[in-house]
This record gives sequence, structure tokens and C-alpha cells, in this order.
Amino acid sequence: MTSSQGDRKLRIGVTFGGSGLIGGTIVNYFKIKRPGIVDMRAPSSKKVSLRDCRDIREYLMSLKPDFVINTAIANIDSDSQLAFEVNYTGPLNIARAAAALKIPYIHFSSAATLPAGTDIEERDRVSFTPRMSNYAKSKLMAEKSLEFMSENENLDYTCIRLAVVYGSHDHKIQGFHRLMFAVADESMPFMFTRKNIYHSYSNSKKLPYLIHHMLDNREEFSGKTYNFVDPEPVELSDLILSIKSYLNLKAPREIYVPYPVARNGKRIMKSMLRLLTKIGLKASLPPELMFLNSFYRTQTLSCKKLQESSFVDPMPEETIYTRLPEMITYYLTRWSHQNLITTFDDTFEFDKSIKDDFKYNPEAILEAIHHDATAPFVEMTEENQKQTRFYG
Ligand SMILES: NC(=O)c1ccc[n+]([C@@H]2O[C@H](COP(=O)([O-])OP(=O)(O)OC[C@H]3O[C@@H](n4cnc5c(N)ncnc54)[C@H](OP(=O)(O)O)[C@@H]3O)[C@@H](O)[C@H]2O)c1
Repeated sequence: MTSSQGDRKLRIGVTFGGSGLIGGTIVNYFKIKRPGIVDMRAPSSKKVSLRDCRDIREYLMSLKPDFVINTAIANIDSDSQLAFEVNYTGPLNIARAAAALKIPYIHFSSAATLPAGTDIEERDRVSFTPRMSNYAKSKLMAEKSLEFMSENENLDYTCIRLAVVYGSHDHKIQGFHRLMFAVADESMPFMFTRKNIYHSYSNSKKLPYLIHHMLDNREEFSGKTYNFVDPEPVELSDLILSIKSYLNLKAPREIYVPYPVARNGKRIMKSMLRLLTKIGLKASLPPELMFLNSFYRTQTLSCKKLQESSFVDPMPEETIYTRLPEMITYYLTRWSHQNLITTFDDTFEFDKSIKDDFKYNPEAILEAIHHDATAPFVEMTEENQKQTRFYG
């Protein structure tokens, strides 16, 4: 990694959106997997809001980082103003600051800027249409402006385009994890897709390796956009049925709901929820349903450009299927602790006796802990004594 900011030992990096699914994985990588290379800062939206140009400028100016990564986005169903400010002017202002500081900017975009079809390449972008979602429109606008700034303002940036992301730590339960949730919660009675509908998937665990490599090789990656997806597309119906089979559930039944029926069902549900709000009950449909039509159309991205680059996939054997058991355990444990899943039968409990004692007999836990688990940590005590002797 080359430093534009002098001879600091540790490079300083900034990740906007560091509490999110992608940002969290990146921050975690530099902290845990590659410690001692980067001092990664991840200001929350409260500290630095991408809606506020001054926030961005002042923060980056005072820190003078060696690079900046942006994984922040407004909620997928945000209104036009929020989507425009967070997803478009935010990245634009980060890019302006990065160009002023002459540091690399790694930007994230989405397959929402691409058309349906198979083997879609980086350059195959959609055109603007009035019916486009605020999310897709703002992401496309950001892509275009960054490209423009690279050509006209010497911006050193790379755009990484993701498809359906899978990985741990999705605290908002979005995208693929929402689908997994719906199957696990048995709230999907039938198949809301057709057979032979394929999509591309992006493995969030591999992403930080790519970013690290791109930061180390700016000449090769600067000014370019890359699709970041697993090479093999995945059939949606097969994925749903695999999750169902892992969980040993009866639903969804293998009845394929045609798109017009699903679309009408969504409309009816929307009207019913509107009625419920009139009597004071607040409920809403998962925001992913705005992409219902994508369950019924194939979109697979080509990863040829990245495969032909100098980046080497650190885990070529990994796919969404190989990660499925681990992700199911992780998310179901999490969701059942949060009382989000009602139908789940607690198969993944790690220790039933502790749970029972906690509920019915907490004194037994206290007794056991007080017996042999309250002594000060030995290693810390020794280390502390050593330091006290050394420094007096
Ligand atoms: N997840 C997917 O399936 C998927 C698919 C395709 C593309 N992508 C792209 O990948 C990137 C990361 O997505 P993600 O799934 O990791 O998102 P996410 O989990 O929803 O996280 C969003 C992040 O944005 C931050 N944020 C929201 N409003 C902000 C504001 N006004 N100022 C500063 N930060 C703000 C949030 O921070 P606070 O919590 O502090 O508010 C949060 O850390 C995005 O560019 C997205 O378009 C994701």
C-alpha cells in the first residue's frame, strides 16, 4: 500500500458504513485478520452523515487518511431525498474529498444498475427510466459521476459491483438473509419464483481480500469497475429448497406461484396493512418485496474481468451452498435469541441445561460460578505485575 500522507507506520483507512454487513466485514478483516497494517476508522452515521457535505470534508480533512471506502447506503425503500443524498451526493462528496487529498476511493455499487439476463458484463448498464427504484437510480447516478470524475478530475477510484450478498453479521436481515428468514420462519408457504431462475451471489467474506489487493495495486485497478460474484450462478428454487431441507421444514411447498398472482397478492397485502395502520397497528411488508419481479427473472453477472486481473480468489471452493450450514446456524441462533423466529424448535441451542437453570434455578448457576469462575484472570494478573515491576 503506498502512502500519500508521509511515512506513517500504520496506514489510516476510513470505512463509511462500517456498522453494516459489508463495512463490518471489511473493518473486521483489517482489525482481526490483518492487524498492524491499517488503522481503520469507521465513523457512525451520527458522527459523519453522508447527507452532510461539511461532515465528510471536515472528517477527512482532519484525519488525512491514506484511503477511503464507502459501504454506506440508505435503507433500500428510502424516499427519493434520502436515497439521493446518501447514495448519490454522499459518494460524490467523498470522491471530491478523495480527489483533493489524492487518495484512493473504493466505492460499492449494485447489480441494480444492470439489466436482467445472463453473463452481464461491467459495461452493460441500464438506462435511466422514470419507473426505476430510488435505490437503483441513485446507485447508477453515483457510478456515472465517479466515472466522470476519474476521467476529468484525476479521481483514483475503483467501483465494486455486488449481486446478492451472503455472509454473517447482517443485523438488518436484508436481501438473501431475508429470504432465509422467511423460510426458517415458515412464512413462505409456496415458492414465489419459477423454475430455472438464476442469480449471481457475492461472498462478503472474500471481499476484504479484494479490497486489500486493490489498495496495494492502484495502477491496475484505478478508474475501473468490477463485478464481484461467485463464478457459478445459483438457481433460486434450488437454494430455497436446500434451506428448507437443512431445516427439515414442510414449507414452502413445491408449488410455484405465477408472477401475476404473486404481484396481486402483494398489492392486497399492502392494502390490508394500510387498513391496519388506520386502527393504530403498524406493520409493513419486507422492503425486498419491491424487487419481487427479480424472483421471476434471471440476472447473472460475468466475473471474467476480475478473473483476468491479478486478484486470486482466496477461497475458490466456497459458494453459497458450502456456507449454508454455517450461516443457518449463525442466523437461526441469533434470530431465536432475539425472539424473531417463533416456529423454530431450538435445535441449535448450545447448552440446554444452562438455559433451563437460567429460567428456573439461577441460584444453581451462581453457586457453580462462585465455586470456580470468579478468580482474577491469571494471565492478566501476571502481565499487570510484570508491567508494574518494570515501570515501577
Ligand atoms: N447487502 C446486499 O445484498 C447488497 C447487494 C448489492 C449491493 N450492495 C451494496 O453494498 C454496499 C453495502 O451494503 P450493506 O448491505 O453492507 O448495507 P447495510 O448493512 O444496510 O449498512 C448500511 C450502512 O450505511 C450506513 N449509513 C446509512 N445512512 C448513512 C448516512 N446518512 N451517513 C453515513 N452512513 C450511513 C449505516 O450506518 P449507521 O448504522 O451508523 O446508520 C450502515 O453502516 C452498498 O453500497 C450496497 O448498495 C449490497
